[in-house]
Amino acid sequence: MAFTSSTTPFSCCFSSGASKDISFPPIKSLKLPLFWPWQKVKMGPLSVSPMGFGTWAWGNQFLWGYQESMDTELQQTFNLAVENGINLFDTADSYGTGRLNGKSEKLLGKFIQEFEGQKRLQDDIVIATKFAAYPWRLTPGQFVKACRGSLDRLQINQIGIGQLHWSTANYAPPQELALWDGLVAMYEKGLVRAVGVSNYGPSQLVKIHDYLKARGVPLCSAQVQFSLLSMGESQLEITDVCNSLGVRLISYSPLGLGMLTGKYTTSTLPRGPRGLLFRQILPGLEPLLTSLREIAHRRRKTVPQVAINWCICKGTIPIPGIKTVKQAEENLGALGWRLSSDELLQLEYASRESPQKMIQNIFQTG
Ligand SMILES: NC(=O)c1ccc[n+]([C@@H]2O[C@H](COP(=O)([O-])OP(=O)(O)OC[C@H]3O[C@@H](n4cnc5c(N)ncnc54)[C@H](OP(=O)(O)O)[C@@H]3O)[C@@H](O)[C@H]2O)c1
Repeated sequence: MAFTSSTTPFSCCFSSGASKDISFPPIKSLKLPLFWPWQKVKMGPLSVSPMGFGTWAWGNQFLWGYQESMDTELQQTFNLAVENGINLFDTADSYGTGRLNGKSEKLLGKFIQEFEGQKRLQDDIVIATKFAAYPWRLTPGQFVKACRGSLDRLQINQIGIGQLHWSTANYAPPQELALWDGLVAMYEKGLVRAVGVSNYGPSQLVKIHDYLKARGVPLCSAQVQFSLLSMGESQLEITDVCNSLGVRLISYSPLGLGMLTGKYTTSTLPRGPRGLLFRQILPGLEPLLTSLREIAHRRRKTVPQVAINWCICKGTIPIPGIKTVKQAEENLGALGWRLSSDELLQLEYASRESPQKMIQNIFQTG
């Protein structure tokens, strides 16, 4: 846990400047951590920060406009996060477009290797990567091979959480068993410390949980799109299922791909496909954005901080995507405080009043 970062304006700060009358030597400013060690979240054998960071944008030109010139700042972003106690980083073997496929894992590997802070913090890092259910991955052995590929790119000996990126139950049910057995095999070989899933809906989640349990492999996490823009019945049912099975819910796209930051309007849209999507959704988001702004103003927080804090208050571990040091600094400020129950209700009411919602991931199962 970092007590020393000078860049995060969100940590509480005690300092004693030298006064005219009292000649004590100045005490170096002391910063409190954003969360205490006992506030880390247990996930199977792992202990992770109440928020992780997502790295989908690292290497993705098509949707996120990645360029290699961003790497220096991405590394600073990573260092800042780790120094402030963030130890969960989400990635995937399919992240990175075209020739940059695998770039996100490669960058994380490089940043872990080159981290110059305390070794303890470096050792504590939990990488959660995801294995794509490509149609040619038809046997457990192919998933083990995929896992070894990720380990090489990440330059580590063991992955924190090995996750299935999506289920094939909706369109290629026979492949599903290879996915499940692939997880078992990588766990038994010690290539991953824990296993998780992504985009599994409530009933498929129960099935894989029971299957893995019978094979002696605990399911530690389930990640789904979950935010104030994505809190429909199915997502709430997944939360209940996770709670009853003792599986941690990791909420991805907690900022609605950027729409819940408040910085985009129909006249200031991001470039590319996100712009097309936002043009459809943003006009219907006024009630929610107004509530987010109101609460942010009252609490002296920012809109993204409130949106991320909502995910934490719902018992999930959000993994907002970050591209810059400024975004990481701001999102770190989502930690160390909690929305009140009235504020949660206000936001959820406003979300329901907003006629447009996020498009659900087409890979999410029932
Ligand atoms: N399992 C899956 O299928 C799946 C699917 C999607 C995502 N994920 C994971 O979840 C992570 C997060 O989701 P996401 O990246 O899709 O979306 P998100 O977290 O909802 O939004 C992230 C984007 O919002 C903008 N942003 C972030 N913090 C900001 C701030 N403080 N102020 C202003 N803008 C800010 C940045 O983009 P701009 O600056 O370009 O606006 C950033 O890339 C991903 O990185 C990935 O690891 C998993």
